[in-house]
Amino acid sequence: MKGIVFTEFLELVEDKFGLEMVDKIISSSELESEGVYTSVGTYSFSEMLQLLQHLSENTGISIDNLLLVYAEHFFGVIEKSYPGLLATYKDPIEMISSIENHIHVEVRKIYPDAELPTFEVIEKTDKYLIMDYTSSRAMHHFGLGLMNKTFEHFNSTATIELEKIKEDGTKVRFVINKN
Ligand code: HEM
Repeated sequence: MKGIVFTEFLELVEDKFGLEMVDKIISSSELESEGVYTSVGTYSFSEMLQLLQHLSENTGISIDNLLLVYAEHFFGVIEKSYPGLLATYKDPIEMISSIENHIHVEVRKIYPDAELPTFEVIEKTDKYLIMDYTSSRAMHHFGLGLMNKTFEHFNSTATIELEKIKEDGTKVRFVINKN
């Protein structure tokens, strides 16, 4: 997992819960990195999972909800860092259905070792999108947060439903209806 995902996460934790919480979740985790991240480095996903687990235990907020809120923050990072990539799109459904064949293809050019999910478009119209998410990291709520913000970015809203295809969340169907 890319360092930018860790650095932005810890910044958000500091903002919302304070530096003591950052120290607490780092010191209660077993981290090969010792909790020192640079935005261009690459670190094990198990480090992110431990940080999320400990934050969840200390705040009572579920990991899914932490990932949702984190993704909404991360979209702002994307808007700032990759404005050109977003400017390619005029419509949220066009953008979301292009993650697999365009957006994450570009991400991989920038970060060859990025750990990205797979999105398969099942059905698509102007107002409606069904897409299957597959990833061993089960970060579907991170995807949900990015999708919510994608609609907001285009001054639009949607109703997005998740249906777990695999119980452990490694395969999830997104049913997206533009309002
Ligand atoms: C992961 C970039 C749009 C879904 C990532 C990562 C980066 C990235 C850097 C982390 C990779 C790693 O840690 O190794 C971008 C950029 C985007 C974009 C630059 C737009 C310009 C989206 C959108 C979605 C999405 C719109 C909506 C579904 C995900 C998910 C992950 C991810 C779910 C977590 C990894 C996983 O589940 O396996 N993306 N992304 N991305 N991205 Fe994107």
